Amino acid sequence: MKAKIDAIRAEALELAASCPSLEELERVRVRFLGRKGRLTLMLRGLGGLPAGERPAAGAALNAAKREVAAAVEARRLALEGERDRRDLSREAVDVTLPGEPRAIGARHPVSMVMAAATEIFTGLGFTVEEGPEAETEYYNFDALNFPRDHPARDMQATLHIAGDALMRTHTSPVQIRVMQRRQPPLRCVMPGRVYRCDSDVSHSPVFHQVEGLLVGEGVHFGHLKGILSFFVGRMFGPGTRIRFRPSFFPFTEPSAEIDISCVICSGKGCRVCKDTGWVEILGAGMVHPAVFEAVGYDPERWTGYAFGMGVERIAMLRYRIDDIRLFYENDVRFLAQFR
Ligand code: DAH
Repeated sequence: MKAKIDAIRAEALELAASCPSLEELERVRVRFLGRKGRLTLMLRGLGGLPAGERPAAGAALNAAKREVAAAVEARRLALEGERDRRDLSREAVDVTLPGEPRAIGARHPVSMVMAAATEIFTGLGFTVEEGPEAETEYYNFDALNFPRDHPARDMQATLHIAGDALMRTHTSPVQIRVMQRRQPPLRCVMPGRVYRCDSDVSHSPVFHQVEGLLVGEGVHFGHLKGILSFFVGRMFGPGTRIRFRPSFFPFTEPSAEIDISCVICSGKGCRVCKDTGWVEILGAGMVHPAVFEAVGYDPERWTGYAFGMGVERIAMLRYRIDDIRLFYENDVRFLAQFR
């Protein structure tokens, strides 16, 4: 009996000590020490031995079990140590490696021009106001003196939502909202996103405008000419010429469209200005008395001017971009040029 226990013990110690992996080690442990392990079964079979042999055999078996368990444990610690060292060296960080360069973002040219235009006016004491992009027929058209069923509503191909709801076709409805919540005199700029059913090299279904409004006593067209001349000089440089052409908008009377001398060809004539030497950048005029009536301002007392400009149009001229769609494709090769 003693010899048999010694043989099993020796075999178990040998297997545990040379075990190559934790999985294999667990199999060795189960084989000798598990519930149906060889040493466990022998211990349980002690009852079958003659009474005189039991104490010595029991002691030897228990000693063997302890020894094998200790050997398995020792081997487990060694294997776990090896595994941890392997993991650590795999995860180690080489602090001497050069860093990975991270691309630095830049502001979008549309954002930059919108901010630049807004700042020119805030520098003159204008406040900045905003309104919703989803609007109603009332704010987008009625209150701005567009007659119902008047073809002027079709000048701006409207994206209707449902019922009276639509996506605003211009930032002019913000004028109405501002005048409803404030009393004159006032001056503000209203930058924002607008929507039209339109898409080609110079039209996008979503684009940006900056609207302006000044209401006071004795405000006249000369004030409008003055401020827009100042704006153009700041935005495009002092050499830029400016021209007012008579035009029509339902919410202004008189109305004008404002052109600047073509910044691409300096007025000599090119593709961008269609050989005219001029490009349109703004609509403007004196606020129509009907608009003041819609917001409850007394048109006998108050006069004002308003203007609206296309931000993409100005950005295209300022950066010499010939396709509006480049603004929305988010190609970093395009955007990175505006750092
Ligand atoms: N809302 C006009 C448009 O989108 C632009 C405009 C013209 C705005 C004249 C004005 C204005 O405030 O007075 O075409």
